[in-house]
Amino acid sequence: MAVTTITFQFHDGQPAQTHVAAPGESVLDVALNNGIQLQHNCGGVCGCSTCHIYVDKGGDELPEISDKEEDFIDRAVDPRLNSRLACQCVVQRDMQLTVTIPKQDFLGH
Ligand code: FES
Repeated sequence: MAVTTITFQFHDGQPAQTHVAAPGESVLDVALNNGIQLQHNCGGVCGCSTCHIYVDKGGDELPEISDKEEDFIDRAVDPRLNSRLACQCVVQRDMQLTVTIPKQDFLGH
């Protein structure tokens, strides 16, 4: 069955949530549509680092990271090898992603 799901884990230990995503939606879209708070100061156009997440599973199937995204990830709090910007993680059919939302910097960048 070609269903895409995203499991959201949280840095503060609150229970994980799994939601179905439609092709073309970003991880940011799916988070916001389900009441998961994720900062997005630039409005989702790869112009900030506030939607920073860690992709724990399924990252290989996401669109490749662009130079611009990499630049902004460098400015995020505690960037790691599996860091991505949620607004740039657009899903396709039949993907199973697991992501962690880190502690967010509410001052933005
Ligand atoms: S919301 Fe600004 S880069 Fe994702």
